[in-house]
Amino acid sequence: MAAHAGKLVVVGAGAVGSSVAYAALIRGSAREVVLTDIDEAKVEAEVLDLAHGTQFTGASSITGGTDTALAAGADIVVITAGAKQRPGQSRLELAGTNARILERLLPAMLEHAPDAVYVLVTNPCDVLTVAAQSIAGLPAGRVFASGTVLDTSRLRWLLGERIGVSRASVHAYIVGEHGDTEFPLWTCATIGGVPLRDWVGPDGSAAFTPDVLDGLAREVRTAAYRVIAGKGATNYAIGLSAARIVEAVLGREDAVLPVSTVLDGQYGIREVALSLPSVVGAGGVRRVLEVPMDDGELARLSHSAEALRASAQSLGY
Ligand code: 2OP
Repeated sequence: MAAHAGKLVVVGAGAVGSSVAYAALIRGSAREVVLTDIDEAKVEAEVLDLAHGTQFTGASSITGGTDTALAAGADIVVITAGAKQRPGQSRLELAGTNARILERLLPAMLEHAPDAVYVLVTNPCDVLTVAAQSIAGLPAGRVFASGTVLDTSRLRWLLGERIGVSRASVHAYIVGEHGDTEFPLWTCATIGGVPLRDWVGPDGSAAFTPDVLDGLAREVRTAAYRVIAGKGATNYAIGLSAARIVEAVLGREDAVLPVSTVLDGQYGIREVALSLPSVVGAGGVRRVLEVPMDDGELARLSHSAEALRASAQSLGY
């Protein structure tokens, strides 16, 4: 299996960081994968466990440790370090703790990897992206968050399962906050070119009534709470989502993914990071798209932006 040329550094060897490294190895997202953490025993054990399987993962290598100098020469850094949600806790409730961690971590990473693209996975990832851009002073396209790439995958899975169509043929996005104010863009959602709201079942009746759409949106919005209640964390799907973003960057794909970038006037929003369909390729986010939204969707976008602005401001960003 050919792997994308390039060096990926994953910061944080908890369930999420280890799953990012695992997904990246299996998918060949980067030729060189490095896992770092402040907990020496934990990171060494995770790296060993991953390395022991590399006979079966193709060309990628895995190394790691506690030294931030391991990030030297990184092309892309995925940050997963920080406190995670406890059952019932919202992502925004982690903001203070994880912003302080980022304030210590990011300058050290930048010293060793000044040219890397930085992807925030730690929650609340949108708020931390604003903090990270301010700390790093990098262009917005080089410091962004995984955002609603995961939520969008959750939505496409639900839609595909419901009507028996491959997820690959479903084009629908969750946008806004990666969190409680996120919402689906039903206006531009299509399945095999058919507008989602026009999709009919075998008996000719509408498949996606307003009630069905509301139920699907709720299911996506609460998905992480459900997983966290059952197993204490989400890790596999976010690992795959982050690996997909790494591939788009290292593979210079210019793929459209709903990552979260500090906006610069799109829909009249500035200095807030939230997810919108964006072109992701060499060097990071190359363009944030302004897709058509109806009045309800525009109102929800602005509600999401205000919630995120308030959270960032409460941290001093
Ligand atoms: C997720 O959505 C908790 O943000 C994490 O799975």
